[in-house]
Amino acid sequence: MSKSITKIGVLTSGGDSPGMNAAIRSVVRTCAFHNIECIGIYRGYQGMIEGDFKEMGPRSVNNIVNKGGTVLKSARSVEFRTPEGRKKAYEKLTEAGIDAFIVIGGDGSFTGAEIFNNEYNFPVMGIPGTIDNDIFGTSHTLGYDTALNTVVDVIDKIRDTASSHNRLFFVEVMGRDAGHIALNAGIGAGAEEILIPEEDLGLERLLESLRKSKASGKSSSIVVVSEGDKIGKSVFELKDYVEENLPEYEVRVSVLGHMQRGGAPSCFDRVLASRLGVKAVESLLEGKSNFMVGILKDVIELTPLEQAIKGEYPIDLELVRVSDIMSI
Ligand code: F6P
Repeated sequence: MSKSITKIGVLTSGGDSPGMNAAIRSVVRTCAFHNIECIGIYRGYQGMIEGDFKEMGPRSVNNIVNKGGTVLKSARSVEFRTPEGRKKAYEKLTEAGIDAFIVIGGDGSFTGAEIFNNEYNFPVMGIPGTIDNDIFGTSHTLGYDTALNTVVDVIDKIRDTASSHNRLFFVEVMGRDAGHIALNAGIGAGAEEILIPEEDLGLERLLESLRKSKASGKSSSIVVVSEGDKIGKSVFELKDYVEENLPEYEVRVSVLGHMQRGGAPSCFDRVLASRLGVKAVESLLEGKSNFMVGILKDVIELTPLEQAIKGEYPIDLELVRVSDIMSI
């Protein structure tokens, strides 16, 4: 392995996701394993600009593999989007002797890393951390599996009330631009309909589906709505619309919000985080840079950051068909 990198910085950036701590732990311990210094960069790129750094040894990450959130804190830095901000960050990194960094975050965080790498030829590596699962080059982002389990667990509870009172519930889940959470949690929790950004179901088809569902003898229903869906009405407007057009339905709304981003990571996310952290550090030590480490068909693979940012991880249309069949 190349000896040129001796000190690696690690930061979390953008929205937190369960498994980020397990990834930090993996990066720190892999550095220790290879006798490389590891520096925690606090508060994402903003902390990088301000030099908010702390040395991390293998014992500094004890008991965090099971914790949600991120011990390094996270932020969305406006200043890092400017050349002046990035210059300050470069100066702080150089002052501290950091010669590469690993950013754990989503596509916005990767864009920052890529621009920085282009401007300063500074070695960078990305680890995908977002509950949305909307990154090209990995079948799973850190936190997605945990978020799915959280959402399914909550919808199971909502179903108790839905069926006790013969109600229809609109449950809004996260996923600004992508319907992976809605689609998979919707199938897992047995939703009658799933509204996602990638496919506009249309109001008429929604009403038709609910009519059919009543006629088929169902007394309660769950409709999972991704926050980025394109049907053109908020969940609260959907409630009013359905009550106006289908008075036989008593409708309630549940917006799950940030509870989906918290909580202990699932075993899957912990193992994935550990594998991605090892690969990220070892790839830097091998002289690679400007890649994202991801998982494809259970193999840890590198994808150029540029592709990870620009590419799309599309939803599986077969899942839409499966959902339709399941809700007959
Ligand atoms: O990208 C992750 C995500 O949780 C999205 O699903 C959601 O739209 C967004 O972050 C919310 O961001 P914030 O916490 O900044 O409101």
